[in-house]
Amino acid sequence: MATKIKSVFFCQSCGYESSKWMGQCPGCREWNTFVEETVKPVTKSAGKASASSQGTGQYVKPMTLSEIVMTDEERDDTHIGELNRVLGGGLVRGSLILVGGDPGIGKSTLLLQVAGNLSSDKKEVLYVSGEESLRQIKLRANRIGNFSDSLKFLCETNLSTIEETIIRTKPEIMIIDSIQTMYNESVSSAPGSVSQVRESTSVLLRIAKSMNISVFIVGHVTKEGQVAGPRVLEHMVDTVLYFEGDRHASYRILRAVKNRFGSTNEIGVFEMQEKGLAEVSNPSEFMLNGRPENASGSIVTCSVEGTRPILIEVQALVTHTNFGFPRRQANGTDFNRVNLLMAVLEKRVGLQLGDFDAYINLAGGMKIAEPSLDLGICLAIISSFKNRPISDDIIAFGEVGLSGEVRAVNMAESRVQEAAKLGFKTCIVPKALESKLKNSFKNIEIIGVSSVVDAMKIV
Ligand code: TYD
Ligand code: MG
Repeated sequence: MATKIKSVFFCQSCGYESSKWMGQCPGCREWNTFVEETVKPVTKSAGKASASSQGTGQYVKPMTLSEIVMTDEERDDTHIGELNRVLGGGLVRGSLILVGGDPGIGKSTLLLQVAGNLSSDKKEVLYVSGEESLRQIKLRANRIGNFSDSLKFLCETNLSTIEETIIRTKPEIMIIDSIQTMYNESVSSAPGSVSQVRESTSVLLRIAKSMNISVFIVGHVTKEGQVAGPRVLEHMVDTVLYFEGDRHASYRILRAVKNRFGSTNEIGVFEMQEKGLAEVSNPSEFMLNGRPENASGSIVTCSVEGTRPILIEVQALVTHTNFGFPRRQANGTDFNRVNLLMAVLEKRVGLQLGDFDAYINLAGGMKIAEPSLDLGICLAIISSFKNRPISDDIIAFGEVGLSGEVRAVNMAESRVQEAAKLGFKTCIVPKALESKLKNSFKNIEIIGVSSVVDAMKIV
């Protein structure tokens, strides 16, 4: 009997599968993302064998925890400290790492640098590009620096050719740029479709695990269109890194969204320069660059990303509204949270914000939605509303509750330490943390506040 080819519709954004076309994806609520793809049905006999009670498969003995031998993962140093940190202390041998991000953000640049660094440690690295010609890669490489000969390049999109090349050349590290250009002959749909991307990833997964090769996979994030996004393969890989940042700003943030070999929500900060990406090892300094002096509506606060504190300037602009309906806007932080804080200020502090537009901005273009920013946001709004600048050497952090109380946040010591390091003199902290912090820090003044009103009186 001829096998009937089935066709299904896949959401190109999240991989949701449906038997009919839909305008909006029930999975991720994106519009117009369904594309028809053909899939080969599983043969009946294969299904039967596993379902039969006879047990035709091979027996593998399950193990107890004490039988499992623990060995430390073998990690390679990428010589990029920020990347090592995000990976959880280096690149784990045989792991699959997805690097996602908008086109043009610098994924190829970063991975070429990683490839260069690893190859200068005498590791065999294979860089497979399906997007750029060898000439284009050379142009980029010339900008970045010199590379050793253990780094090899391949311009190829056919996975079986790539697999054959891997088997012959036996690289230790491999880079696939990008997964959306790869195709597998056994799948009939076009490169970049959900089935192709999934199938190609599972081939790479098999290669990585069986030959103990570390594989970096580049995945473009696409807003719309016919290319499957990296989200459809997040569950297949060991580590998911997203490269984000404003195209117009020079810095880039590498964020771990999933990591089987380390903690998530670690970030690495980079700056795009003439000669590739440079590490920014002190992001606070970078973020506070160009801070206005003596301006109202500005205060520095401290957020923690992973294990690292980052100081950020919160700016607020509160102006009289020209229309009946006040405008509220939040750049870089949660809009609803800002609305909530403004309601708290109105009710608990007594600010009449009803006739005022309010714009909140995290300077530097960082995107943070951490509650410890609340106190800073409140103070910035108050400062702009009253048009009274807050002293430049004050920093404030703490979560604000609905009754206007200031609540404790985690990792307070490292936040204060970061502030002290950058020369701040006064630190406004939640009351609950005051005594503990006062004992550990002598060179910076610690002021505990129990409510927003208290904090307002101090600044
Ligand atoms: P690229 O790595 O090609 O982005 P992606 O692979 O994520 O699509 O980065 C492209 C951008 O980076 C491009 O706009 C040029 C810029 N760039 C620099 O500013 N300096 C450099 O040294 C390099 C190599 C690129
Ligand atoms: Mg690229």
